[in-house]
Amino acid sequence: MNAEQLEKTFQDKVDAEIRIEPRDWMPEAYRKTLIRQISQHAHSEIVGMLPEGNWITRAPSLRRKVALLAKVQDEAGHGLYLYSAAETLGVERETLIDEYLYGNAKYSSIFNYPTLNWADIGAIGWLVDGAAIMNQVPLCRCSYGPYARAMVRICKEESFHQRQGYEIMLTLCRGSEAQKAMAQDALNRWWWPSLMMFGPHDSDSPHSEQSMKWKIKRLSNDELRQRFVDVTVEQAHFLGIAIPDPDLRWNEERGHYDFGPINWAEFWDVVKGNGPCNRDRIRARRKAHEEGQWVRDAAMAYAEKRKARQTAAEAVASPTPVATYS
Ligand SMILES: [Fe+2]
Ligand SMILES: [Fe+2]
Repeated sequence: MNAEQLEKTFQDKVDAEIRIEPRDWMPEAYRKTLIRQISQHAHSEIVGMLPEGNWITRAPSLRRKVALLAKVQDEAGHGLYLYSAAETLGVERETLIDEYLYGNAKYSSIFNYPTLNWADIGAIGWLVDGAAIMNQVPLCRCSYGPYARAMVRICKEESFHQRQGYEIMLTLCRGSEAQKAMAQDALNRWWWPSLMMFGPHDSDSPHSEQSMKWKIKRLSNDELRQRFVDVTVEQAHFLGIAIPDPDLRWNEERGHYDFGPINWAEFWDVVKGNGPCNRDRIRARRKAHEEGQWVRDAAMAYAEKRKARQTAAEAVASPTPVATYS
């Protein structure tokens, strides 16, 4: 088959909702797009542990500590599944990690905001994990098999994350005036950065159209953001706290909430590395990576030792057959 035929067979498969698997032919641009998207997603999961990990020791009760510890650990797991999914596209995990620690690979801008108090942990679970679910549920139907399958488990865990955050918010909102004020303050600070998590408007998102055609992406940035606003506003009403947007109102005609303009200058500034915590986050990740080198070395040495032992045991169990002549 020539290149054109290969491309057509590929697109026909995608259109027929047949999953693309690692050994299948795929356009180079499809492979590159997926490597970029999956690795950015993996980096985000790993960096995402930092703002919350910081609060494990300060969680207000043992129950909260256990839940937060489990959540942060889940995020590490998400990063690992996603690096594995990216590796099926023929790229080494070390290369990807190097690109984000020492190069300029991106991760979600939301993790460059600081967590100032306990209410922020509630707001992150509710809003950030809530936005992640909105983004990730459609990815369970992504055309690339390993990515889609990784997303199934990730989404189940994200839903626990969202609920633990919302429960923290609910507890604060039903507590003292000061606690409710903490919840409101956290919502004020996390609301807009959460809306930015869906990325630029569709009209400013050059890769989106191709990704939709390849069925990597199923819904546009603006559609996802709208869905998020619609469900989250109702949840804020239930909590009894206000979304910090004077333009927010129900639009009967559209059947959706209208909301005010997003500060895109802030978004791009954070993406470019000038958010409140960009430098801290990278510094912390580099330190963890470098100080963890001995752990990776030890794990490799142990794996090799086990393999050598297994090979020796197999050789004893089934000695090389001696040729017989008759
Ligand atoms: Fe996650
Ligand atoms: Fe999560």
